[in-house]
Amino acid sequence: MTIENILSDFNSQFQNIVNKNQLEEIRVNFLGKKSQLNELFLQLKNLSADEKKSFGAKINELRNHITQKIDEQKLFFENQELQEKLSGEKIDITLPVRSQNIGSIHPINRVMYEIYQIFSMQGYEFAKGPEIEDDFHNFTALNMPKDHPARQMQDTFYLQNSELLLRTHTSNTQIRKMLNSKPPLRVGSLGRVFRRDSDQTHTPMFHQFEGFVVDKDITMGHLKATIENFLEEFFAVKNLVIRFRPSFFPFTEPSAEVDINYSIENGKIKIGKGDKFMEILGCGMINRNVLLNCQIDPEQFTGFAFGIGIERLAMLKYGITDLRMFFENDRRFLEHYGFKTKEF
Ligand code: PHE
Repeated sequence: MTIENILSDFNSQFQNIVNKNQLEEIRVNFLGKKSQLNELFLQLKNLSADEKKSFGAKINELRNHITQKIDEQKLFFENQELQEKLSGEKIDITLPVRSQNIGSIHPINRVMYEIYQIFSMQGYEFAKGPEIEDDFHNFTALNMPKDHPARQMQDTFYLQNSELLLRTHTSNTQIRKMLNSKPPLRVGSLGRVFRRDSDQTHTPMFHQFEGFVVDKDITMGHLKATIENFLEEFFAVKNLVIRFRPSFFPFTEPSAEVDINYSIENGKIKIGKGDKFMEILGCGMINRNVLLNCQIDPEQFTGFAFGIGIERLAMLKYGITDLRMFFENDRRFLEHYGFKTKEF
């Protein structure tokens, strides 16, 4: 058993190795406790100091050689394994995405999106107004000067130590839009509004859609057709019976409220049938004072405006019976009434 024998033995066996298991076997055979090399190390103690030095250096060299070879080969096998794994794990990116159950679209968002689609197809642009608003844009410019009794129709949240308030309706967007652009205007606005009201049919925050048009020769007929068309599209019902009832808003003249015809069948609301009516929106011809407040000449231009409660629409369309459910965000409500993202 000489160093040369061990080395040639190792070299010839090493050549034939094809996998990690064989490599491990060889490692145990040539470097392990029972290896010939280890026995040579054990013999060192019987040698004289000089012999020890030269023989020790030689067997150390042999050990380093074997260790290095084995380590290199191990790295090679590991690399090979990784490459095989990677090429076997191809991902087909043309496969359709697997639908994942990660939440749902809230019915309020869904309704706002439907409204957005219907009106943008008719050429309406969409504008956003601030939720924290000043007195001028929420009231005064809308023909409700300070101390006007109509302000009481909308119980307002005022900010402490500030002139500001939470907007009570989306009509503030009318004023902002008319002030910073010129007619013709066809504008829609969706958003949150706030009133100090809280009971079964009122929540202190709810959502509105405001639509308005200002152009030459706009009449109540345009308003009526717009509302009728929208409601038929939204509820997907033809020849919907709706009722325009005279009403009052300081910012429109004349003003109307619109009622929609419905019946209850098997405890469910059916739109467009029966003799029951439910109020769903307020509207009218934009008051000339409002046009004047926005530097629009009422002799040249007329316009109509309407405001709709989004929650009311969602309740009617999707048969949701309690307004408060919208804001409790109970998972069961969202699972039942929510929409999957791909339906959105
Ligand atoms: N702003 C009114 C409200 O919130 C609704 C409305 C809008 C009425 C536009 C007429 C015209 O009650």
